[in-house]
Amino acid sequence: MVSRPASVRIPPRPRPAAAPAILRPYGRQTIDDDDIAAVVSALRADQLTCGPGVAAFEADLAAFLGARHVTVCSSGTAALHLAYAVLGLGPGDEIITTPITFSATASAAYQVGATIRLADVDPTTGNLDVASVARLVGPRTRAIVAVHLAGQPADLDELTDVARRAGVFLVEDACHALGATYRGRAVASGEADAAVLSFHPVKHITTGEGGAVIVRDPERHRHAQRLRHHGIERDPARWSRPSPGPWYHEVVEQGWNYRLPDIACALGRAQLRRLPEFLARRRQLAAAYRRAITACFGDGADAAVRPPPSTPDRESAYHLFPVAIDFDELGVDRGALMTALAARGIGTQVHYIPLHHHPFHHARMGEHAGMPRPGAEAYYARTLSLPMYPGLDPHQDVEIVIEALDQCLMELSR
Ligand SMILES: Cc1ncc(COP(=O)(O)O)c(C=O)c1O
Repeated sequence: MVSRPASVRIPPRPRPAAAPAILRPYGRQTIDDDDIAAVVSALRADQLTCGPGVAAFEADLAAFLGARHVTVCSSGTAALHLAYAVLGLGPGDEIITTPITFSATASAAYQVGATIRLADVDPTTGNLDVASVARLVGPRTRAIVAVHLAGQPADLDELTDVARRAGVFLVEDACHALGATYRGRAVASGEADAAVLSFHPVKHITTGEGGAVIVRDPERHRHAQRLRHHGIERDPARWSRPSPGPWYHEVVEQGWNYRLPDIACALGRAQLRRLPEFLARRRQLAAAYRRAITACFGDGADAAVRPPPSTPDRESAYHLFPVAIDFDELGVDRGALMTALAARGIGTQVHYIPLHHHPFHHARMGEHAGMPRPGAEAYYARTLSLPMYPGLDPHQDVEIVIEALDQCLMELSR
C-alpha cells in the first residue's frame, strides 16, 4: 500500500457557488403515498422482475389507450429500437422524421442500421410539415416517424395518407403525448404501425425509467416481447428442436435486455390510475397560462410571448408548455433569460436543438444535413418551455411564472 507522507495534505475542494434552488422546474414527477405503497408491495413480492406485474401493466395501458398489443420496456429509447426492429427496418432503409425531437428518435434508427432523413416542421407547432415529408419520400423510404411534440398531436391523418400512398410504415413517437387525442381518437392506440411511449420522470406517468411499444399486428407484438428478452422463444410450437426437458428454451435471434422490472411496473400501474387527474391538471395549467399570457402580453401574432397554438380537432396532453418569444426582435438573449428565471427559482428548457445541429447526427446525415429547414430554424429560435407538471398550482404558480417572465424580459430588453 502506498502511504501518503504526513506533510502532504489534500487541500479542501473549492465549494461550487450555490446554485439557486429551482422551485419550479420545467417538468417533474408527481409521486404520492399510493405510488410508494405500490412499490413497497412489489418489493415484498416473490418476483422483482419477469413477474405478473409486467403483463398487468401492459393490460392496464392497453385498456387506457384502447390498444391491443402493448409491450413495456426499459425506456422510450428501447421502445423506439424495438419498434424499428419489429418493423424490419435495417441497413439501406431510410426513415423520415422531424429535426425537432429528442436524439433518441434518430439514434434508435442507427441501432438497426437505418438512415435518417429530416423533413421540415410547422414553425408554430414544431410538428412535422406534411408537404415537406411528402417531398422527401424516395425509393429507400421505409417509415415516417411522427413526434407529437410537447403533447400536441401531429397531423396524423395526412401523414397516414402520405405513408399509405408511399407504401411505408407510420410510427408515432408518442413519448410526449400519452393521453392526447386526435380527431377524437387516442394517440398511440395501435392505429399506426407502431407507437412508443416513455415513462421518464418528466413524462405524464413515470416508472423511473421505462417505455412501451404499441403495435397493430399481433405477430410484431410477439416479436417485440421476444426481442425485449434476449430473443428467447418460449413457445414450444416455434422451436426448431424437440424439448429435452422443462429447462429448455431457444434463443432464435439477437435480442436485448429491455425488460421493465415488476417494481417499475407497480409504480406505472399506480401512476396510470391517476393519469386522468394528471391530464386534467396539465390542461388546467395550460388554460391558465394562456389567460395569463394574453393578459400580460396580448394575443396578436406580434405579441412578445405567444402560447403554443391549439387546434380544435386535437387535444394536447401538454407534456410541455413551449411558448414562442421573438428573442431577436426583442433584443433579448435566451440564455440570459433562462439564467434570470432560474435565479427566481423557475426552470425552463429548450425543446429541442434541431437534430441536424448536433455534430453526431450531422455527420450521420452527410449532405442531407444541409437541406434548408426554415420551419425548424424558426421554431428553434423562438421556443422556451415553461414549467408544466401536475404539482403546479394553476393560479399561484402560473401567475408567478408569467410575472417573472414579464419582469425578466423587461429587464433584459433594456
Ligand atoms: C420525443 C422523445 N422520444 C424518445 C425519447 C426517449 O425516451 P426515454 O428517455 O424514456 O428513453 C424521449 C425522451 O425524452 C423523447 O422526448
